[in-house]
Amino acid sequence: MDSELMAIIGIVAVAENLAIGKGGKLPWHYPADLKHFKQTTTGNAIVMGSNTWRSIGKPLSNRLNIVLSRRAQLDSDDNLLFLRNVSEAADLSKFLSGDLYVIGGAHIYEAFAPLIDSWIVTEIPERIENADVFMPANYLESFQLADAEELDGGLVVRRYERMS
Ligand SMILES: NC(=O)c1ccc[n+]([C@@H]2O[C@H](COP(=O)([O-])OP(=O)(O)OC[C@H]3O[C@@H](n4cnc5c(N)ncnc54)[C@H](OP(=O)(O)O)[C@@H]3O)[C@@H](O)[C@H]2O)c1
Repeated sequence: MDSELMAIIGIVAVAENLAIGKGGKLPWHYPADLKHFKQTTTGNAIVMGSNTWRSIGKPLSNRLNIVLSRRAQLDSDDNLLFLRNVSEAADLSKFLSGDLYVIGGAHIYEAFAPLIDSWIVTEIPERIENADVFMPANYLESFQLADAEELDGGLVVRRYERMS
């Protein structure tokens, strides 16, 4: 284990109007972004809120899945762990061999905001009408652009590092 290399990374796909969710789901389907998400997070740990957990419906393979909930949940399993607060997840992340990816939704991004070292943001080239979950306008204000990458289908992913 090398805890020095562990980072807490927010990963999100955001529409032009800052929408990230609608009706408990992602309001779009971009296979290239799903592939990018899988490639980026595989082999690491992911932490999500219970709404996002319900939306995904099963643990994602080859990753430790951490679900935050203040209520009783299912029993934890091999790659599935239910925790009750951010500090339990942050404490655990110190013992992980990989990084901890904060995968949403909005409540979890907000709860982890002070701990996030970098953001990986897929820019969705759409405005989503009647969305019900949004990123705050200032979520990148303490971060600077580190690099950008184009995915299949013309989607752009930007990585932002926290300014020291
Ligand atoms: N575009 C993207 O990249 C992206 C990524 C992820 C999700 N989404 C979308 O976002 C929406 C879901 O987001 P959301 O904000 O409604 O829900 P969420 O953040 O996924 O889950 C919220 C729930 O997590 C638990 N929780 C939140 N903060 C906590 C804390 N500090 N400690 C312990 N538990 C905590 C609570 O569960 P209990 O009520 O069980 O206590 C809370 O009700 C969906 O539409 C989803 O598809 C989009």
